[in-house]
Amino acid sequence: MTTITVIPGDGIGPEVTHQGTETLEALGLALDIDVLDHVNAETYLQTRTALSDDDFARVRASASTLLGAVGDARVDSDYARQVLLRLRIELDLFVNYRPARLFHDRLSPLRQPEHRPIDCVIVRENTEGLYSQAGGVLRSGTEHETALDVDINTFHGVSRILDFAFSIATRSVCMVDKSNAVRHGGQLWQRCFQEISSRHPELEITHEYVDAAAMKLVADPTRFDVIVANNSYGDILSDLAAELAGGLGTSASANINGATGFGLFEPVHGTAPDIAGQGIANPIGSILSAALLIERLGYTAEAQAVRNAVNVAIEAGQVTPDLGGQLSTKDAGAAIRAHL
Ligand code: IPM
Ligand code: MG
Repeated sequence: MTTITVIPGDGIGPEVTHQGTETLEALGLALDIDVLDHVNAETYLQTRTALSDDDFARVRASASTLLGAVGDARVDSDYARQVLLRLRIELDLFVNYRPARLFHDRLSPLRQPEHRPIDCVIVRENTEGLYSQAGGVLRSGTEHETALDVDINTFHGVSRILDFAFSIATRSVCMVDKSNAVRHGGQLWQRCFQEISSRHPELEITHEYVDAAAMKLVADPTRFDVIVANNSYGDILSDLAAELAGGLGTSASANINGATGFGLFEPVHGTAPDIAGQGIANPIGSILSAALLIERLGYTAEAQAVRNAVNVAIEAGQVTPDLGGQLSTKDAGAAIRAHL
């Protein structure tokens, strides 16, 4: 038996993650599912510790983790850092892989039909940049309070994320940065990109500044295959790409350590507090994250079967209100499983 850990988290996290695990169970794989349902904001409010060292060890000892979403208006930002960012950084999950592929023409927000079929992957550096936690506050509480978050870019970190991006590209790689304004990190990314590009003459190589990349993604997303960016730009562009592909509720992601193979899989949507507890959250992001998880464990055909079932359910309109349907989270999950 392979053990996988599950962290449902907060907001709509538990509702959608339940559909993700039900789907894995329906596949009848040799998986032992260890649910850490106490890792949430409620626990943090009571104990100030969201993810204990024991929990961390359970996660680390498992083959992979499926996460729902973490966040709560009642807690400070330390909470997300203790859970999600701690796992990403301490388990060195340096790749954030976020595919965006249009499920159905009717879900595209774009006016021109020929520009709708987005099929790209955002490869986001996941352990450095502004998320590295380096920084501090000077003269706190005075008029001269100075807050610093240092944008860390290492040769090691930049090279390995670019290597990963090139390794999965079939058509092209577009590197996104802001090297016209952000000098030092920008130069490092540019230099590494040029070096790696020269080793891949088979691929079309492009570069965009992040502002232009956002504009071009909306103007015609079909021109992109793999987009690689730092932590912050990848965060922003992946929400944009998700919306172009059919909505944030459908979007899945994998946080991967390329060396150990460990992965943390999560929908790109967050806790969605406005609809939490109503039973209408879209389970597709979690179900497709579960598909990415089993795919990395070697269950390629099963992962494809899940994706096909999602496509059939979307085609048939068996979806939650955010996609124009009338089903509840549970019924939308069940409809997908019925097509497996
Ligand atoms: C994401 C989320 C997180 C991030 C938040 C919750 C810290 O937006 O996974 O994209 O910024 O990485
Ligand atoms: Mg985000």
